[in-house]
Amino acid sequence: MPPVEREKVTLTGAPETLLATLYGRALDSRAPRSVLHDEAAARAVERIDYDFRRTGMTATTAAGVALRGRQLDGWTREFLDSHPEATVLHLACGLDTRAQRLAAGPGVRWVDLDHPEVVALRERLLPPPEGDYRLVGASVTDEGWLESVPADRPTVAVFEGLSMYLRKEDGRRLIERITARFPSGQLLFDCYGAIGIRLQKLVPAIRNAGATLHWGIDDPRELETWHDGLVLLDALRSVDMAGLDLLPPVGRLQMRVLARLPRLRDVGRILRYRF
Ligand SMILES: C[S@@+](CC[C@H](N)C(=O)[O-])C[C@H]1O[C@@H](n2cnc3c(N)ncnc32)[C@H](O)[C@@H]1O
Repeated sequence: MPPVEREKVTLTGAPETLLATLYGRALDSRAPRSVLHDEAAARAVERIDYDFRRTGMTATTAAGVALRGRQLDGWTREFLDSHPEATVLHLACGLDTRAQRLAAGPGVRWVDLDHPEVVALRERLLPPPEGDYRLVGASVTDEGWLESVPADRPTVAVFEGLSMYLRKEDGRRLIERITARFPSGQLLFDCYGAIGIRLQKLVPAIRNAGATLHWGIDDPRELETWHDGLVLLDALRSVDMAGLDLLPPVGRLQMRVLARLPRLRDVGRILRYRF
């Protein structure tokens, strides 16, 4: 077999952190009790020339990334089951193969979006999924990309590992623009609490990439005031995610302890809103 040609990756800051979550899903796919079975992540990692030790991923954090991904996959699938004609905005997609994992039906328009340098890497590493698919290189804060997406269908915007990199005013603007443009839909995303923002330097992937986190959400209901008809459906603490029994024993213990500490248990949440 000829050797696999590997892509040298020189991302820094927030874009570099996509290598941590990708590596988490790749490690999970090799675990005896894999959560997500994301074999494409493992194949992509093999093609990337990067010192993945920089991510600091462990068996526990890898399973945590996979569980969060599975939760957001599940909510996206639920939305598509009840809206077979829909648009998916998968923002800050990085090298996540959510579109491939969900294999949405013919009535679904899928938009993957990330910074242009990430999109260029994605095009080299991941084959596009079947169906009505487009990959957009832009910042979520740019004007223009949203207006290029037809506003004709219910729309689910799913963004994993994004909100904390935005400033609050940019996150608010993004949510206002999405909810104003589409007739109805859902927002599915994870967030850090203010305590998580304060402790950010303890996360090796963030520290080593030189990324900075800005926006923490302690009161998910506050966002309901940003659009008439925006309603919080779920605010799931990361320490209460389904499937934590799949973590290695040390991770299960860490989660049990965190879940009992009043301030620390709000370090991260996964949120679901409808509009
Ligand atoms: C932790 S990674 C998560 C990537 C992917 N969602 C995943 O779970 O693997 C953070 C991602 O946010 C993207 N990102 C950060 N700020 C962004 C912005 N303003 N516009 C678009 N993408 C952004 C980065 O490029 C990176 O891909």
